[in-house]
This record gives sequence, C-alpha cells and structure tokens, in this order.
Amino acid sequence: MMKTIFEKSNGTDGISVGECELKGVIPADLLREGIIGLPQLSELDVMRHYKELSDRNFCIEKGFYPLGSCTMKYNPKVNELLALLEGFCNLHPAQEDDDSQGALELMYNLQESLKILTGMDAVTLQPAAGAHGELTGMMIVKKYFESIGEKNRKKVIVPDSAHGTNPASAKMCGFDIVEVKSNSKGQVDIESLKELIDSDVAAIMMTNPNTLGIFEEKVLEISKLMHDNGSLLYYDGANFNAIMGWTNPRLMGFDVVHLNLHKTFSTPHGGGGPGAGPVCVVDKLKDYLPSPVIKKDGDKFVRDYNIPRSIGKVRGFYGNFGVLVRAYAYILMMGLNLKLASADAVLNANYIKEKLKGVYELPYDEPCMHEFVLSGEKQHAQGINTLGIAKRLMDSNYHPPTVYFPLIVHEAIMIEPTESESKAVLDGFIETMLKIAKEIEISPEKVLKSPQTTPIKKVDETLAARKPDLVFKG
Ligand SMILES: Cc1ncc(COP(=O)(O)O)c(C=O)c1O
Repeated sequence: MMKTIFEKSNGTDGISVGECELKGVIPADLLREGIIGLPQLSELDVMRHYKELSDRNFCIEKGFYPLGSCTMKYNPKVNELLALLEGFCNLHPAQEDDDSQGALELMYNLQESLKILTGMDAVTLQPAAGAHGELTGMMIVKKYFESIGEKNRKKVIVPDSAHGTNPASAKMCGFDIVEVKSNSKGQVDIESLKELIDSDVAAIMMTNPNTLGIFEEKVLEISKLMHDNGSLLYYDGANFNAIMGWTNPRLMGFDVVHLNLHKTFSTPHGGGGPGAGPVCVVDKLKDYLPSPVIKKDGDKFVRDYNIPRSIGKVRGFYGNFGVLVRAYAYILMMGLNLKLASADAVLNANYIKEKLKGVYELPYDEPCMHEFVLSGEKQHAQGINTLGIAKRLMDSNYHPPTVYFPLIVHEAIMIEPTESESKAVLDGFIETMLKIAKEIEISPEKVLKSPQTTPIKKVDETLAARKPDLVFKG
C-alpha cells in the first residue's frame, strides 16, 4: 500500500499527497486539503536552534548556583552513565520479578541505605518529589490515627519558617494548620508550642536544620512534648545535606521523613521533575506505606504488595527508577565521604556568612548549617531591593540565591553554596556580593539597569507579569 502512495507522489515536498492515488486507502473526507505548513528546515538548522536555546540556559556546569534550600550540588556524570545502562533503561516495569532482579536489588539496597542514613525502619521509593513525599507522609499520619481510633486529631503544627509545601501537603490531607512562631534565635518557640499542643494535634512538621539554616537545638524537647501528647513528628528532609552521617531524624525523635534525592543525593532537579522523594518511617507506621515495597525473600528480591493498611499507590509502578539509580550510584561512590560532604557544605556556608555579615544584615547571627539567610533591608533603604541584588549577580554569571524566602525575614537572601565548590569560587562570589553592596552605596542607578549580560536583559516586571509576551523571537 505504502509503495502505491509514494510511487505516485510528485516527490517535491514529501508532504503533499494530492496527486497520490489514495482511493480506497484514506476516505476522501479525511484527506488534507492543503499542505501542512510545517517549517522547511534541515536537521542541522533544528539542531542549531536547540543548541542555541540550551546555551542560554544556566546550569551548575556554567557557574555557581547558591540557590538556598535547593542544594544545587554537582551531579556527577557517572550517575548518568549508570542510569543509561541498557539493562536499566530497557527494562519494562511490568516485567516479572525473576526478569528484574538487578533493578529490584538496586531498589532494595537503596531502601536499606536510606534506612541507615535516616535511622528509620521502612522506606517507600515511590513519591516523585519532596512535596509528594510530604503528601505521602501526611497521608500515612492520617491513616495511622484513623486506624487507632483517634479521628479527632485534625491539627498539624507548622513553624512560621516552614516551606510552603508543608502546610499545603497537610491541608491536602484534610488537616487544619496551626502555625507556631520562631523565637529570636530563629528556632521554634517552645513556650508558644506548648500552648498549641492539645489532644487534637496529629503532628508537627519540622525541617532541621530549618529554612534559616539553623539547627533546632530543642528538637529532643519538642519530640518529647509531641510524643507525650500521642502526636507524631514529620521531618522535612530538604536540608538533610547538612547533617548526613552526623546525626539522623530518628535520633532527633522523628517518625516520618522524606528525602529529596535531587538535593542531598545529587540527582537532577529537572525543573520540578521527574524527581524522587522517598519516605522513611518508624516501625509502627510501616504497614501504611504505599505498596509495593521491595523485599528480600531468601536470595531473591521481590515486590511485596502485602501491606495490610497501605494508603495505596502514590505513583505509577515504583517511582522514577532512573533517579533511584543515580542516587544509589552517588551513595556507593561517596561511601563514608557522605559525612564529609555534609561537613564541607556547612563549612562553605559559614565561610560566606562570616565574610558578608556586617555589609549585609544577618538577622539571626548564629553559626549556620549548610545555608544562611541575609536580609537586604540596608540596601533596600539605599534604593535597591533584594530582587535588584539578585539581578546584578546575574551579570557576573552567578545564579541568584533564593530570595524573599523564608517569609519571616524581610528582603531575604538565602545562600546555600553546597560542598561542591572550591574556595576560589566562594571568594569570587563574596567579592561580587561586596562589590554590589558598594555599587548600591555609590551609584544605585547602575544596579537598577541589571541584568545586562543575560539573553533577556532588564525587563519591565509589571508589564511582563500583566502582559506576558510568550512568542519566541529567534
Ligand atoms: C524546606 C523544603 N521543603 C520542601 C520542599 C519541596 O521539595 P520538592 O521541590 O522536592 O517538592 C523544598 C523545595 O525546595 C524545600 O526547600
């Protein structure tokens, strides 16, 4: 049939089939009337277009990426090579256990590694991101209280420094959110917390170190207060890179943990996905995990669907397998050096903090963990807000830090260098930040024009938000 069609084509555009003998092949009323109108471009033209677009993209291979709370560490290329092994990427998730032993063994070993690192008793690898892990974890918390007959536990306590996904995830599970405020040291205020605890509280969600990069010193007291009340503790593991190998959420008294593999375990962030946010739980919650989990049965690795009170599936098949391969490769490659990675991340953050404080305000002047939060209030008073500082940094090939988060710091600038960077890179960044502060003092109008060196230069923020021009102009 195909031969008949193409033999009779006029052969000039490869698209028009008007002259083909199609009777009896495609009904006349379904035939296209004109040519399709696709751009006539060669493969090379298309390649150049996409290469040019990708060159415009900023990535850690191009420059320093101190995006606080996101742990933009280097993703070793060997992770990619291993994830692309034919046996992994050509495996169908519906293949039998017997045909998938290598993949199941990898997932099992990853579960075991995460158990060791977090101190927890059981793991699901299914959730696709940190926020998805939070949702999964809070669904487990909900089902746990339902099944022990404590349906009254409707409240979840969340610190005012928390990432927005914490209250959002708990709310999506039907909980009511109660905010607890931070004290002058940037930590959960224990006296305020005590006032909020009652028999309706299901859990507290905490990040430790918290989003100010400060370790919650009273975490054991908090866990005792919560457990004495019959409540659970949820650990947001977004900042796990700061403590890995030094302590763990179990030692701090947590019951449920999510880990963002794209942060601590060097898998790609990938613009919101595909990612992985495994959830680890203590023994009493393991019967609520999504099914299946990977188990070892004698010498064999199996998918175990027999999870009595499972909350059900939260993701197709077993999660993002390629991401799991990359994370496991990273763990194997690093071994005990995972602990050193955390130490270096903390050292790098403290180094930058000490050099910048004074020139920029440091609202919580405490030793920091892997990140710290400055305030651009002083610069704001001189005419340039934090957004302006972020844009000026782009002119020196730095990705801006996280800005305006956490919400409890005015004009927040949240800097997380990670362990990946050399002292020379940190010094270059410090020098640039100091230079920008000087510019703001002397000639703020210069900073107002930034960015000047990026593919898209300074834009009118209000116009861009109200009337976005989304048409590509090559
Ligand atoms: C403290 C904190 N919690 C939760 C999340 C959500 O994680 P994810 O982006 O993987 O969904 C983030 C993301 O940056 C975070 O910083």
